[in-house]
Amino acid sequence: MTRWGIIGPGRIAHKFAQDLTQIADAKLTAVASRDLERAQAFAQEYGATFTYGSYEEIVNCPELDVVYIASPHIGHFEHTLLCLNAGIAVLCEKPFAMNTTQVNKMIHVAREKNVFLMEALWTRFLPTTLKTLEIIASGAIGKLLGVKADFGFKAPYDVTKRTFNKALGGGALLDIGIYPLFLSYLILGKPAKITAQAILGETKVDESIGMILTYDEGRFAFLDATFMAETTCEAFVYGEKGRIRIHPRWHESKDLTVEYEDKTTETFTFDRPTWGYQYEIEEVNACLAEGKLESAIWSLSDSINLISLLDAVRNEIGLVYKEFDITE
Ligand SMILES: NC(=O)c1ccc[n+]([C@@H]2O[C@H](COP(=O)([O-])OP(=O)(O)OC[C@H]3O[C@@H](n4cnc5c(N)ncnc54)[C@H](OP(=O)(O)O)[C@@H]3O)[C@@H](O)[C@H]2O)c1
Repeated sequence: MTRWGIIGPGRIAHKFAQDLTQIADAKLTAVASRDLERAQAFAQEYGATFTYGSYEEIVNCPELDVVYIASPHIGHFEHTLLCLNAGIAVLCEKPFAMNTTQVNKMIHVAREKNVFLMEALWTRFLPTTLKTLEIIASGAIGKLLGVKADFGFKAPYDVTKRTFNKALGGGALLDIGIYPLFLSYLILGKPAKITAQAILGETKVDESIGMILTYDEGRFAFLDATFMAETTCEAFVYGEKGRIRIHPRWHESKDLTVEYEDKTTETFTFDRPTWGYQYEIEEVNACLAEGKLESAIWSLSDSINLISLLDAVRNEIGLVYKEFDITE
């Protein structure tokens, strides 16, 4: 039985806790909020025993194997280090931290303390993602040509919430643009060149962003994300003999279709009664049971590569989070 704790019981933490209840060999034991009553209400909803009115206290929980960090982006670095330094394993939400420097430090501490660490890049573990990789490896769509993926929704304009709030690490890239960038990295690896343009709004975060990545042998990735419009949220992987379409919303999809050159198609469906977070949870449980310090499926090197891409895109669009971009 893997005993889980949660730091930052907000919107995503609720979904995560709901999926956790579906896993037989895992349970939520501890919840830490900046407000004890919020921790207690959350704990009661999901049957956790231990509640804390500050994040610092959770590391003293007597029944705890791993903590899920679900605070806003700007808290990931500090809250991850808090747990790692206490010898407690961590699954931390995306983006893993605000920049590569922070991610490197987190990984350094995890290795120094011999503690498991993983970025909660849940899409990596979805059956649709695994199937996409399997189809590519089988040669069914032939030599890879490129990737196209988007993620857009109309976010309510509330500057107190993370999305448009720069002080909370807001902006489309770190929140949702990370998903298309992740897919291009997973399928095509590191690009030779990145170009990007963004529309920075009144709060100086990117409300919309478009990225073009180029690779050797003429391969490409066309990626975009926006808080301003409901886009189709589809992903395509193009090959010389056909293409894979991951159905909307592709980052949480249950279906994909292979569309061959001769216009025949093949659809694969992976139903689930959950949001889809159980796959990453099961990976963490398995890693902990086997005494692993990182996942082989979404490794710490993968996380470094992804945050480096995010940094490179931010560099292209001139998006700096001064307070959080630690440079030493
Ligand atoms: N994997 C996914 O599908 C997915 C989906 C959405 C979001 N996320 C990621 O998960 C993280 C949390 O997102 P969310 O949408 O759940 O956010 P949220 O609803 O705002 O919840 C974040 C929680 O963090 C705590 N917190 C700590 N410092 C805070 C601060 N300065 N301002 C506001 N809240 C603060 C709050 O809990 P207490 O005050 O009770 O401690 C809050 O409830 C983000 O990094 C986001 O990128 C992932």
